[in-house]
Amino acid sequence: MTTELRRTRMVGLGGFVPERVVKNDDLKQWMDTSDQWIQERTGIRERRWVDWDKKIGSSDLAVEASKRALSDAGMVPKDIQMVIFATLSPDHLFPGTGVFLQRKLGIPVGAAVLDIRQQCTGFIYGTSIADQFIKTGMYDRILVIGAEVHSTGLDLSTRGRDVSVIFGDGAGAAIYAPAVDDVSYIISSHLHADGNSAEDLWTEYPSSKEMPQLDPAEVAEGKTRHFPQMKGRQVFKHAVPRMAESVFEALARNGVPLADLKMLIPHQANLRINEYVQKQILGLPDDRVYNNIQRYGNTTAASIPLALYDCRREGKVQKGDLVCLAAFGAGFTWGSVLMKL
Ligand code: UT7
Repeated sequence: MTTELRRTRMVGLGGFVPERVVKNDDLKQWMDTSDQWIQERTGIRERRWVDWDKKIGSSDLAVEASKRALSDAGMVPKDIQMVIFATLSPDHLFPGTGVFLQRKLGIPVGAAVLDIRQQCTGFIYGTSIADQFIKTGMYDRILVIGAEVHSTGLDLSTRGRDVSVIFGDGAGAAIYAPAVDDVSYIISSHLHADGNSAEDLWTEYPSSKEMPQLDPAEVAEGKTRHFPQMKGRQVFKHAVPRMAESVFEALARNGVPLADLKMLIPHQANLRINEYVQKQILGLPDDRVYNNIQRYGNTTAASIPLALYDCRREGKVQKGDLVCLAAFGAGFTWGSVLMKL
């Protein structure tokens, strides 16, 4: 006897970015950089950063994105049975940010709340986890969030400019439920990691390996281990083939030709990475790859749901369209989700 598993579909989608717009030229008040360098190397024109005086955390941005996703799904917070929260910029070291979202949004006490990291691939991993819980019948309504407040944790001096000009704050949320037809459902998800390059993109400190104190002498010497550090070129070199592989893997596993793909939603780390993958490897026209990094910078776990949200709002994808989500980021981690929207 074979048991047919259920399928999962996305029933709600929401995105949110803070109001404060930080243009490339605005960054010059902290560091030696230029609009021309940033646009040429990354495609970014501006990003949104939270208002630092207001103590806004990832959970606060997530609340707004989740409200939009709930409204899109025609649901209220008490409908949610499980939260999967992906962030590398948690409100606090522990507990995970998901419980703060649960409390602020009014998701019922007793619901399951799971925090994951997985950085830029966080939304892909979160979606895949949700898919498994729904397929097996354990839950019917799962909220998956990617949210980041990067701006409070960046080295804004010239020393940190290669990293700090890239990152933006934002949140994206999706609600998953059992599929009801063959029009709209998750086809497959593909998750990967390689810890050999973990230190190529990381924030080393605070660390449980050491007593939690910042040595002022170290900071003065520029050993800023509490800020994110990136070997940009190394990361770039891995990002291009891994993103492309992730797309090919999803298509090949399902015997779907690239020609059938309506839209690729790549992680928004660098417009040059996405254009290289699009033009040099996949050979897709501009209207089949969506980018919004120009407006938001790299919002890590939030970037894919935010891009999908904007893409759908602009009418470029609709229910039933074949969409591939693909990401690569710190860890390294990478992966993809193929779905009929
Ligand atoms: O989301 C997670 C995954 N992340 C990624 O996929 C990011 C991958 N990497 C990248 O996107 C690129 O490596 C960066 C955008 C981070 C950097 O671009 P790059 O072309 O690799 O530049 P670089 O780091 O090799 O630096 C080139 C030059 C250096 O000057 P010299 O040594 O040639 O004189 C840097 O000091 O550009 C300088 N530079 C800057 N100049 C102005 C670095 N950052 C800046 C800046 N403004 N913000």
